[in-house]
Amino acid sequence: MTFKSTPKVELHTHLEGCAPPAFIKGLAAEKKIDISKIFTADGGYAFRNFDHFLQVYEAACTTLQSPDDFRRLVSAVLDETAAHGVVYMETFVSPDFCGGGDLDAWHEYLAAMKEAADEAEAKLGITLRGIVTGIRHFGPDACKPAARCAAETMGEFIVGYGMAGGEMVGRPADYAYSFDMAREAGLPLTCHAGEWGGASMVAETLTHLKVSRIGHGIGAASDPALVEKLAEEEIVLEVCPGSNVNLEAVSGWAAHPIVKLRDAGVPVTVSTDDPPFFHTTMTEEYDMLHKTFGWAEDDFAAINATALKAAFCDDTTREKIAKKLE
Ligand code: HPA
Ligand code: ZN
Repeated sequence: MTFKSTPKVELHTHLEGCAPPAFIKGLAAEKKIDISKIFTADGGYAFRNFDHFLQVYEAACTTLQSPDDFRRLVSAVLDETAAHGVVYMETFVSPDFCGGGDLDAWHEYLAAMKEAADEAEAKLGITLRGIVTGIRHFGPDACKPAARCAAETMGEFIVGYGMAGGEMVGRPADYAYSFDMAREAGLPLTCHAGEWGGASMVAETLTHLKVSRIGHGIGAASDPALVEKLAEEEIVLEVCPGSNVNLEAVSGWAAHPIVKLRDAGVPVTVSTDDPPFFHTTMTEEYDMLHKTFGWAEDDFAAINATALKAAFCDDTTREKIAKKLE
């Protein structure tokens, strides 16, 4: 049984983390950058744990040096993602990985990404939107310019602000300034929390950063009062089960709390995070949810409806995508 052709909405991906290893290898060869140690002998990405993953991720990003590299990246990623039935995808993009953090270059990088996204939409029927993302382990001060970039470029393509990276750096309150700036600019917000940090990190993220969506959020499952709050306030979790299994944030598919959260009324959605890093695709996620928990077409239709409702795009786009899910 495969759900490859089922139409899908995906809210949680990292643009650079969707780059196929062969694509990054090709850029490294073009630019004569030696990053051979980030690859396994059979051509995958090589990392031992989450912290090492972040280092390998940043090494891969050093090959992305121009707007044209990002244009090619978006094309390659959307070709692959559309092949798995994804009709709408949101992706985290970080000014810190564009132009070596030169914020003046941000507009050019963004224009190149949007050009490739528009081309793919016309050719493959997949819609891409970007969420500007602060990198948490670069510290609270580094997240402020990212929020400024988000505020300056919000529009048809940039639709939100978020934060990714090492979760155990500081506490959520330390990052309130950038989230306040993005919120005041009118951007909807999401933040990685509870991938590693447990329920308290999710609770503090809601209190101090006032987000409507949480990246991962699985740590919340251990706190019944928090689960009730997520359900009552309709905080949407961007759950990435294959990522959690690969990085051993959970002990295996059967132990994943996505069913417990969903059954408690929490709005859950399903995404891949960084598919080639975690050896997953949206087809694999759906097929494993079917195999492990018996989820079928109705469950996936509900998941996609939840995701589309929580998507940060405008309502015209939402209505257009809704037709593709019918
Ligand atoms: N988690 C946190 N930060 C990240 C990830 C992730 O899975 N991928 C890229 N940055
Ligand atoms: Zn993520």
